[in-house]
Amino acid sequence: MSLGLSSTRSSAAGCWLVIYPVAVFSSRNFKLQDKAERIVILGTGGTIAGKAADAADNVGYKAGQVGVDQLVLAAPPLAAFKLETEQVAQLDSKDMDFATWQRLAQAVDRHLQRDDVRGVVITHGTDTLEETAYLLMRVLAPRKPVVLTAAMRPSTALQADGPQNLLDAVAVASQAASGVFAVLAGRIHGATRLRKVHSYAIDAFASVEGGALGTVEEGRVRWLSQAEAELPPLGLSRIARDASQWPWVEIVQNHAGADGRVVEAMLAHGVHGIVVAGTGNGTLSNGLTAALQKARDRGVSVLRSTRCDAGPVIGGELPSAGALSPVKARIELLLQLLA
Ligand code: SIN
Repeated sequence: MSLGLSSTRSSAAGCWLVIYPVAVFSSRNFKLQDKAERIVILGTGGTIAGKAADAADNVGYKAGQVGVDQLVLAAPPLAAFKLETEQVAQLDSKDMDFATWQRLAQAVDRHLQRDDVRGVVITHGTDTLEETAYLLMRVLAPRKPVVLTAAMRPSTALQADGPQNLLDAVAVASQAASGVFAVLAGRIHGATRLRKVHSYAIDAFASVEGGALGTVEEGRVRWLSQAEAELPPLGLSRIARDASQWPWVEIVQNHAGADGRVVEAMLAHGVHGIVVAGTGNGTLSNGLTAALQKARDRGVSVLRSTRCDAGPVIGGELPSAGALSPVKARIELLLQLLA
């Protein structure tokens, strides 16, 4: 193949594409990498790997169609890096599941333990990227950089955003010290405050309360604020249980007329945990409060978050999820119940 590529086969997972640099310098100011600074790119699918029949179609595509090695080839400046790829999954991230999370976390951990690996990049769908980022942060709290990236337009689009995002993600993985980040539209977000805030725009992600951690400008990382406070890792053993046996944790929302019947229905079906996205400072209607108290009395764990876009839940009767969004509070509760 051209571009100095050679392929090897991994015993662990499918086909790997090992890319040796054709040039270690580039005109884009990428960091010169020494021999022990390989970046591993794990493909999981998403729009970044999506295909549409028409190049002008940015919404009528199928996600998770293009292999991670092809995504690398679509960004020629990546030839300046020592890369390795592994296809961990190929799905639309709306269908992300526990078994894939397990496989992905194990793959990230396996690669980070290698002396020759500096960091890991994950190509992912945008829809649940913030959940995967948070899970990896809580389980691994990695001492090397793990960078998730994605795209809002399919790989076939006239102006696909995937190649630039992937290039920027690799730049961050080769320059950041440690942590779980998301890199999209030139901005670096931390796993905790990251949220998808737009359904269609190219710049669809934001870090609530305080803004992005940094930017990537022509391959150079510029940090704007301190990394988030690190929690000690829970370890892969926390998510080792067979994925089909993971607890059932649901999210319910307070809203005008919320009366708690949905909680009753969940109780009837054996729910294990409930995250409630309250109004404002996590407030709940009387009906929802009563139903959730009943759930707790029956041994169901409850965490209270807010449906507001930012800010913590302070005080109140039911346990608070702090400043975690409802979907991240759900992961936190899952991890508690898996203990
Ligand atoms: C997905 O999340 O896999 C599809 C949507 C996207 O990546 O933007």
